[in-house]
Amino acid sequence: MKQTDDYLLKEELSNIDLIFGQLWDVSADGMQLTDEEGRILLVNDSFCKIFQLNKQQLIGNPFPVVYAKPEQDEALKFYQQDIRNKEIKTRFEREYTLWNGRKTWLEFSNSFLALPDGNKITLSIVKDISERKSSEIELRESEQKFKMLFNNLNDAVFVTQLSRDRSYGDFIEVNDIACKRLGYTRDEFLRLSPSAIVWQKNIDDFNLFSEKLLKEGHVIYDIVHRAKDKKLIPVEINSHLFLYNDKLTSLSIARDITERKQAEQKLARSSRLLRELAVHLQSVREEERTLIAHEIHDELGQVLTALKISVSLLEKKLNKNQTALKQKVNALADMIDSSVESVQKISSKLRPGILDELGLIAAIEWQAEEFENLTNIKCNLVLPREEIKLERNKATAIFRIFQESLTNIARHSGADKATVSLLNHQSMIYLEIHDNGRGITQNQIRDFKSLGIHGMEERAMVFGGQLNIDGITGIGTTVKVEIPID
Ligand SMILES: Nc1ncnc2c1ncn2[C@@H]1O[C@H](COP(=O)(O)OP(=O)(O)OP(=O)(O)O)[C@@H](O)[C@H]1O
Ligand SMILES: [Mg+2]
Repeated sequence: MKQTDDYLLKEELSNIDLIFGQLWDVSADGMQLTDEEGRILLVNDSFCKIFQLNKQQLIGNPFPVVYAKPEQDEALKFYQQDIRNKEIKTRFEREYTLWNGRKTWLEFSNSFLALPDGNKITLSIVKDISERKSSEIELRESEQKFKMLFNNLNDAVFVTQLSRDRSYGDFIEVNDIACKRLGYTRDEFLRLSPSAIVWQKNIDDFNLFSEKLLKEGHVIYDIVHRAKDKKLIPVEINSHLFLYNDKLTSLSIARDITERKQAEQKLARSSRLLRELAVHLQSVREEERTLIAHEIHDELGQVLTALKISVSLLEKKLNKNQTALKQKVNALADMIDSSVESVQKISSKLRPGILDELGLIAAIEWQAEEFENLTNIKCNLVLPREEIKLERNKATAIFRIFQESLTNIARHSGADKATVSLLNHQSMIYLEIHDNGRGITQNQIRDFKSLGIHGMEERAMVFGGQLNIDGITGIGTTVKVEIPID
């Protein structure tokens, strides 16, 4: 019976030997057995491959033969120390210089094995981890580079895990500029919700854009941040959405636009001033023209009338036989008549009295007739039946736009027909002047030198209105103006 047991045990042991033998041979890890002095007893093929030495070069030699000379003594010293202290560093990784000068990262798992005879041997399992290490190093370096970039940007950067219930989540990372600009430490930031740094008056906008970010994945918007010391900082936010640890996360870059905002305000102020100046100049010019028109009309008109009376008295005093003299006096009277006409023309060109006396519609009718007579361009009018009550400056503006449009038609269009329509509807006044000429081009409209057109636009804008010009080549040009009546 005992014999059979022994037999079975032996057979089992030899099976285990077989399995371990196989394992030893096929393992991808290098394996080595060393005695207490550090001499190599056995190595497997993978071990030979890692160190690029064959079994003859290894077995029987002290294990440090695999390393470069300067590292050999130290390796042996530590090994012997461990043996003496009966403890062994079971697992460690280190960069070694191998016997052939090649630098290699190795991971060791060592363990003592006690032999039945009381001796100890060491089993070392070795892995070449150079590739893993170099990618780890690369990763660490790129992380460092990224961190440097992150902290050296001129803009504040916030990484936020998004959630609606926490007023759009929690900060999970901020850069140095964000801390410096808003006066919170990184730790304080990580306890805040993103809405906490938004100026109270902008909260609705912030919520709106956060929703848009969730929907569209990217938003750019202007908002005002409020620092810890309550200082307000206008910023332009550029946010992107991405998944981080399976959670919706946003990366937001906040650019300080204080200077841009100040420049915008300055620009807005100076263009407002320029507009006010233009309005002022126009009204001064208009007043001057009215004044000169009146003076010419009244003063010169009176002088001419007096002259006319004197000349006709003179004519009456002449004898019938003074024919030559009579002819001269008559010619003088004709000259005075045509001078009176000129004076009237000049004064109404300066400022048509009809505009002040009878209103815009009458002035347009009069001007259109003059235009037709002067240019032979037929002018169709579609006008309201009743005069529109308009403030003097506004009536002047519309009339001047109308005049400039007619002048342009006469000078540039080559048209033979023009249509003018004036309409007042729901406290707006609409004026449209169309011609059937060559058609203005977009470049001509936009040209900085088109001062006549820009002047018309300016006049409309002064009264909160607008002017549009459109041209179709060969079809004609249309000027459309709309101005609020009140
Ligand atoms: N009705 C039109 N038909 C065709 N071209 C036009 C018409 N009105 C204007 N233009 C074009 O647009 C240009 C700009 O017009 P704008 O009134 O600004 O300047 P202008 O008439 O040339 O000079 P001004 O400053 O004396 O008015 C004109 O030079 C002309 O080429
Ligand atoms: Mg012009």
